[in-house]
Amino acid sequence: MSAFIFNELNFDNHEQVVFVSEAKSGLKGIIAIHNTTLGPAMGGCRMWDYASEALAVNDVLRLSRGMTYKNAVAGLPIGGGKSVIIGNPKTDKTPALFEALGEALERLGGRYVTAEDVGTSPQDMAHVATKTRYVAGLGDNGDPSPYTALGCFVGAQAAVKHHLGRDSLEGLTVAVQGLGHVGYDYARRLHAAGAKLVVADIETQALERARHELAATVVDVDAIYDVQADIYAPCALGATLNANTIARLKARIVAGAANNQLATADVGEMLRQKGVLYAPDFVINAGGIIKVCYEYLGKPESDVEAHVREIGDTLAEVFARAGREAVSTSVVADQVAQARFKR
Ligand SMILES: NC(=O)c1ccc[n+]([C@@H]2O[C@H](COP(=O)([O-])OP(=O)(O)OC[C@H]3O[C@@H](n4cnc5c(N)ncnc54)[C@H](O)[C@@H]3O)[C@@H](O)[C@H]2O)c1
Repeated sequence: MSAFIFNELNFDNHEQVVFVSEAKSGLKGIIAIHNTTLGPAMGGCRMWDYASEALAVNDVLRLSRGMTYKNAVAGLPIGGGKSVIIGNPKTDKTPALFEALGEALERLGGRYVTAEDVGTSPQDMAHVATKTRYVAGLGDNGDPSPYTALGCFVGAQAAVKHHLGRDSLEGLTVAVQGLGHVGYDYARRLHAAGAKLVVADIETQALERARHELAATVVDVDAIYDVQADIYAPCALGATLNANTIARLKARIVAGAANNQLATADVGEMLRQKGVLYAPDFVINAGGIIKVCYEYLGKPESDVEAHVREIGDTLAEVFARAGREAVSTSVVADQVAQARFKR
């Protein structure tokens, strides 16, 4: 018999993986709880038209494991988990689908708390909330992106200080890939700090806005890797850093919001060898989950900013240790997380 789940690279000792289905609503979903050492598992619910069930399993395990690392390094009292609903978010959504997910979460008794993610919205989460209290990111004030952007900004400041020996971003050039919810707000902060922006996106509207409001120079989507910049800020897709793009990169720092930026684990070492300082994705982009976690735990929103700003201090420690031990920053970030959740 071939091992399908337990031998998956990302299975990595998941505590629990639950397959949920409901005939009436057509729900087909997977809830993955990677680790609850630090608290209930928290991570968003992704809705995606997966080409196969195996791909859905692989995705939920990868994302759930990643949340354990992100939440641990951010110093949050929560573990890591994630859920996926198999279906097309444009055509297959119904309130009943999310109510059925809520019932499934309720059966787990709070071991996993969900929120919005790619393909789901605060409105969908409101339907989940009719059946369970184990859901966050609700309401008008639920958008975590501004906090993710703030975390990226303080992360970029820490990287510049460590690697370029500068206290200011004034006059530095940042190549921003993706001007969506996080990327645009991050670019706005960079512009306000005196950085020059070179930007790429597949949406022309965002580019025009950046050109007018932020004096940004626009380049083609594929040309962003070749820009003569100090910082490369991936804020669109995952896995943009690979042997090919690293060879083209002129930037000396990578500091962006995208999840899973390294195409493969060895890319962290490739960046180090090239003298590029990489701000590990799950450390620098934790601002959003910090905001969602505070909301869920009923902690005051006024304290969120200070917690998000700690991302800069955490990164400074990661950079210093990586330098001392002559290893990649991604390896150090993994070790910092593991020391917290592996007890
Ligand atoms: N929103 C958050 O709080 C948050 C938190 C942690 C991580 N992230 C990650 O940060 C990234 C951005 O998130 P977001 O919420 O801003 O998403 P978004 O969908 O609002 O923005 C993504 C932007 O990238 C653009 N884009 C798509 N393909 C592109 C390409 N090939 N080249 C250049 N641009 C392209 C899109 O047009 C869009 O403007 C994602 O990888 C996301 O997983 C987001």
